[in-house]
Amino acid sequence: MKKKILAAAMAAMVTVTALTGCGSAASSDSGSTGKTLVVGTNAAFPPFEYVGDDGKPDGFDIALIKAIGEKAGYEVQIQDMEFDSLVSSIGNKIDVAIAGMTVTEERKNTVDFSDPYYEAVQNVLVPKGSDIATAADLQGKKIGVQLGTTGEFIADEIEGAEVSAYNKAVDAVNDLNNGRVDCVIVDKNPAEVFGAQFSDKVDVLDGTKFDFEPENYAIALPKGDTELADKINSALKELKADGTYDSLVKKYIEE
Ligand code: ARG
Repeated sequence: MKKKILAAAMAAMVTVTALTGCGSAASSDSGSTGKTLVVGTNAAFPPFEYVGDDGKPDGFDIALIKAIGEKAGYEVQIQDMEFDSLVSSIGNKIDVAIAGMTVTEERKNTVDFSDPYYEAVQNVLVPKGSDIATAADLQGKKIGVQLGTTGEFIADEIEGAEVSAYNKAVDAVNDLNNGRVDCVIVDKNPAEVFGAQFSDKVDVLDGTKFDFEPENYAIALPKGDTELADKINSALKELKADGTYDSLVKKYIEE
């Protein structure tokens, strides 16, 4: 008798585990606090996301999505993964992704995007004293980028360029410091963080001098989930109206 109950309980547990292990976690119940939103990121992109001193993901995007979750009634659970696997993980391993991700037509084939929340541009990191200054100077150069990023897409179009793609942008910067690449193309704010970190070795060049287009960061969402998109967009609007958004920009980006 007892054994049977235990077996039934275990079977139920297995079912629960299986349910939470796959499918959209946005629909899973996390008890009294409401629903869980599993958010993918790549915590190697300061100041938007990085691993904090406590070993947990932190940064502007992390704070923003937590504030959105609070407004929209979700318990936010962050999952750190490779940037290159974020888009394909939406709807299976994760519900949404926030990762300083630029809205692109290509990505829109697979995912939807929230309203944009930040404008950026690619910058160019060069060793101090480099003669790279304009778009033409990038031709035929060894260029370091982060794998699967808009920086890589831009570099791939440069004539004669030899592109090295790294899982983390900082690995590209390390190879710049080692002399293995001539420059690194990476988003403006991380470029500034790396520039400050290695201020004795590298210079940060403004991407507009290379005719790079402005880019918009947005939260990547499951395709066609307009209910979730509406919730996230309304929360974002409220956070902009009530000053939370600005205070996060001050705290994480401008400080
Ligand atoms: N904005 C660029 C892109 O969307 C780079 C983003 C990289 N983000 C990250 N968390 N590593 O492709």
